[in-house]
Amino acid sequence: METIKRNIPISLPHTGEEEWLATKEPIMSGWLTAGPKVREFEEIFAKRHGVKYAMAVTSATTALHLALVALGVKQGDEVIVPAFTWISTANVVLYCGATVVFVDVNRESFNIDLEDLKKKITPRTKAIIPVHLFGLCADMDAIKKIAGNIPLIEDGACAAGAGYKGKPAGSLGNLGCFSFHPRKSVTTGEGGMITTNDDHLAEIISSLRNHGASISEEQRHHGAKPYILPDFNMLGYNYRMTDLQAAVGIVQLKKLDLFIDERAKWAKYYDEQLKGLDWLRTPSFGDDYKHGWQSYVVYIDEKKAPLSRNEIMEKLQQEGISTRPGTHAPHMLGYYANLYNIKPTDFQGAKDCNDFSMSIPLFNKMTKEDYEYVVEKIKSIKS
Ligand SMILES: Cc1ncc(COP(=O)(O)O)c(C=O)c1O
Repeated sequence: METIKRNIPISLPHTGEEEWLATKEPIMSGWLTAGPKVREFEEIFAKRHGVKYAMAVTSATTALHLALVALGVKQGDEVIVPAFTWISTANVVLYCGATVVFVDVNRESFNIDLEDLKKKITPRTKAIIPVHLFGLCADMDAIKKIAGNIPLIEDGACAAGAGYKGKPAGSLGNLGCFSFHPRKSVTTGEGGMITTNDDHLAEIISSLRNHGASISEEQRHHGAKPYILPDFNMLGYNYRMTDLQAAVGIVQLKKLDLFIDERAKWAKYYDEQLKGLDWLRTPSFGDDYKHGWQSYVVYIDEKKAPLSRNEIMEKLQQEGISTRPGTHAPHMLGYYANLYNIKPTDFQGAKDCNDFSMSIPLFNKMTKEDYEYVVEKIKSIKS
């Protein structure tokens, strides 16, 4: 019997009435910018991620930028970035006037390649940004061994709630950065978080996100002398999250583990259903990883596949199923290719991941029938 055609996007945020109602309090109170809701959101996030400090900002990009500024990254410094990641992991290095040093990635984990990392460290390396791509943590113990005293900034944009060797993402490096964009497991529309256990870095970052002010607007409101304006001792930014966003984030964060458990259940279903296809590799990782399942990304072996990766994506599109390449390889994008005069094949692992990865729908609003439909259509792909 012919199945009825469905329309399944690559992702949809799981928001609804609860999130909508949560915005009522800030709207009615009139406290809309960073205030009590942001503080509550930060406290819940810090507790869940096993860190002393969580500081809300406007995106993972601004989180990464502040992490580098707080570490003092400047012109003449080098920062190591995997060559398969969202472009902003690299862009933030340029915001600081420093040099991006790309490192190749492993085709199995999609994360940083340890052998290439060893070769790329120089006396000018000021920080390393391992990415926990699609919610799978990078092998942080191995990276730490290689990095020595070089600070590690986790790009955990996709990894809220993920874990590694019993520890949460965000507690594994010197600083952790997260995203609450609607394609992530929990969302605030746009938004980000920086985590750390370091008192000094936390103090700098809290101030940097608020123009470099010595006290926050909320502290000023509650008790500071009316004639005292904050002092500004550093060049800061306005990267403040609003209480409206945080109100949504608080509701979302309480459901984070439920969301991940549900995604993990369907990821397992995909694993079991798709493992028989010799042209498609499902995600694989060790027992000491807790995947955050921001995305379910497969790798197409074009030597065995009935069609090319792009043809497969088009075929699925015709069936009403959205797919995307896992992410992109920034070294292949015009800006970086020109800036550093790099060839796509200079990072062959990243190029292959760019060309052969495919993210298939996995989100909390999907139904059992949606998952079954995706599996049926992938299995029916023929040349
Ligand atoms: C690995 C990675 N880093 C950084 C970002 C940037 O996040 P944001 O959109 O919150 O700035 C993303 C977003 O997709 C990402 O996937």
